[in-house]
Amino acid sequence: NIGELVTNTPDAVSDNASSAGLGARVPDDGTARLGIRHNAAVLLDGDRVAWVGDAASARPHAGDDDLEVVDAAGRAVIPGFVDSHTHLVFGGDRSAEFASRMAGRPYEAGGILSTVAATRAATDDELRTRLAGFVAELHAQGTTTFEIKTGYGLTVNDEQRLARLAREVTDDVTFLGAHVVPPEFDNGMGSDGDPDDYVSLVCGAMLDACAPHVRWVDAFCERGAFSPEQTRRVLEAGAARGLGVRVHGNQLGHGDGVRLAIELGAASVDHCTYLSDDDVPALAASDTVCTLLPGVEFSTKQPYPDARRLVDAGVIVALASDCNPGSSFTSSMPFCIAVATRDMGLTPAEALWSSTAGGAAALRRDDVGRIAPGARADVVMLRAPSHVHLAYRPGVPLVARTWVAGLSI
Ligand code: NIG
Ligand code: FE
Repeated sequence: NIGELVTNTPDAVSDNASSAGLGARVPDDGTARLGIRHNAAVLLDGDRVAWVGDAASARPHAGDDDLEVVDAAGRAVIPGFVDSHTHLVFGGDRSAEFASRMAGRPYEAGGILSTVAATRAATDDELRTRLAGFVAELHAQGTTTFEIKTGYGLTVNDEQRLARLAREVTDDVTFLGAHVVPPEFDNGMGSDGDPDDYVSLVCGAMLDACAPHVRWVDAFCERGAFSPEQTRRVLEAGAARGLGVRVHGNQLGHGDGVRLAIELGAASVDHCTYLSDDDVPALAASDTVCTLLPGVEFSTKQPYPDARRLVDAGVIVALASDCNPGSSFTSSMPFCIAVATRDMGLTPAEALWSSTAGGAAALRRDDVGRIAPGARADVVMLRAPSHVHLAYRPGVPLVARTWVAGLSI
């Protein structure tokens, strides 16, 4: 007996006033899209959701073999979080950089290179052990689907190594050879290499080595990283190999990342801290998801983007952690929900939708991010009566139990 069940399938919910076609307009705080049921039940069968409905009528649907009954009375049950943007394969530590930022130093993309050096120096087993720790951390916090990017190797062998290791724990691996230009190619860092030669390597041998292990290609389109022309070369090369496109754009200032992402039909453009008046309607008219990363603004002290404006304009907004050692070292989607609600103008309901169904849209997945028959059995039971508590009780570990593909973690 589930106190509050968030399904993200509003059409199937009969007692939801705003989806029942009632004449009066119900003020929409985003709750309608959550498809909330009360006194509900969910049946999981193997790795899939088998049935969703009223608790009172669940029994006949359940069969009788090996049935484990979990009482969720007074508790909320939600779809597992879909974290569509992380960088979880890396070595080293940048806590000192964080501390100096809190004392006033600005965030700079150059910090990425210290993680590149530490990652190159780490063995496969060291990276694998650390990654396993992050996966446990994600599950404990209710994240059941996560994307992982390469991007801290920046040689053919190291990028392939990171792609391979990431692929051991997720289907959604992204090739981010175009994260920054490594020192051996960058004139500005005292080497005699040329950044455009690095882009050629990314589009050639590096992509060849990584493509078999990844589903996505991404590039960091930003001053200090890659120009719009270089970004386009990388993304088009990835797309030509059949990879889906994602973009890091508009993080450190206004720029062309959003425009380029839309033009190339990217599944998602991520960060979007600085959006122009043209970017918002262009996103709204596109299928490209706008993925906001509240942990980044939090830990780089940049201004929070106006998520309210985006949702009101009709943009599909996802929330993700961007978990990485530099700009956002949180793996907590509840934390992102709390910040997006407090500082970015989303309602708790919208923030939850963006962290589940929104993340699924950003990964072009229809098997996750909702609780409905046929969906993967990714379910989270909260130690709280309502999804609102995710934002209302920041920092409190509210995840009581997580099921990943039907397995209780
Ligand atoms: O998404 N924007 C570029 N890359 C990461 C930061 C990586 C780092 O600082 O190590 C990001 O914020
Ligand atoms: Fe990122």
